[in-house]
Amino acid sequence: MKIFIDTANIEMIKEINSWGILDGVTTNPSLIAKERTDLKTCVTEISKIVDGPISAEAISLDAEGMIKEGRELSGIHQNINVKLPMCIESLKATKVLSAEGIDVNMTLIFSPHQALLAAKAGARFVSPFVGRLDDIGQIGSDLLSQIVTVFRNYDTETEVIAASIRHPVHVLEAATIGADIATIPYDILKKMVSHPKTDEGIRLFLADHEKSKKK
Ligand code: E4P
Repeated sequence: MKIFIDTANIEMIKEINSWGILDGVTTNPSLIAKERTDLKTCVTEISKIVDGPISAEAISLDAEGMIKEGRELSGIHQNINVKLPMCIESLKATKVLSAEGIDVNMTLIFSPHQALLAAKAGARFVSPFVGRLDDIGQIGSDLLSQIVTVFRNYDTETEVIAASIRHPVHVLEAATIGADIATIPYDILKKMVSHPKTDEGIRLFLADHEKSKKK
């Protein structure tokens, strides 16, 4: 499973990239606003750090505007794809942009039907929001599982990004189900590294090493 980071924070991206595990980055307007930056400056900066897909979200609600934004954003760097919110207008825009070789990440996916349509229109990625479904008492991992199954049935090239990840169990579910990608917030990536028994083991080995030096 490929690992993307879900943030617009440059320092966090640099740090996780330095671990050697980072395959790409997703941003959204909320993440951009949190960093008090603007989308173009932010994704330009990210493209200098990460060698992999970078999602930049369009804010237009009509196909014409989405296409214009998509062309502009993808023109910044070859790795930048345009994130479009799932709707009829974005399906139209996806058809045009994908025919031009511009990758689309269809976001705010909450049903397998939406994912199927996005893939048919030519989206390179679909982003089902696992955590936001859990938030309302539905099972986000079931959605992920349905989409992965449907895409496998037809050898669909569109990649499934498990999004709205809230804890390490979501990552495990995504990997078990066979999602192509999980886009993971910084604090959850940090949690994935640690285990109390690892920390304890390191402490014990070092203590024994100190003891053996004194002999
Ligand atoms: C993914 O592309 C989205 O930006 C993100 O995962 C949304 O996560 P949230 O539901 O925690 O805001």
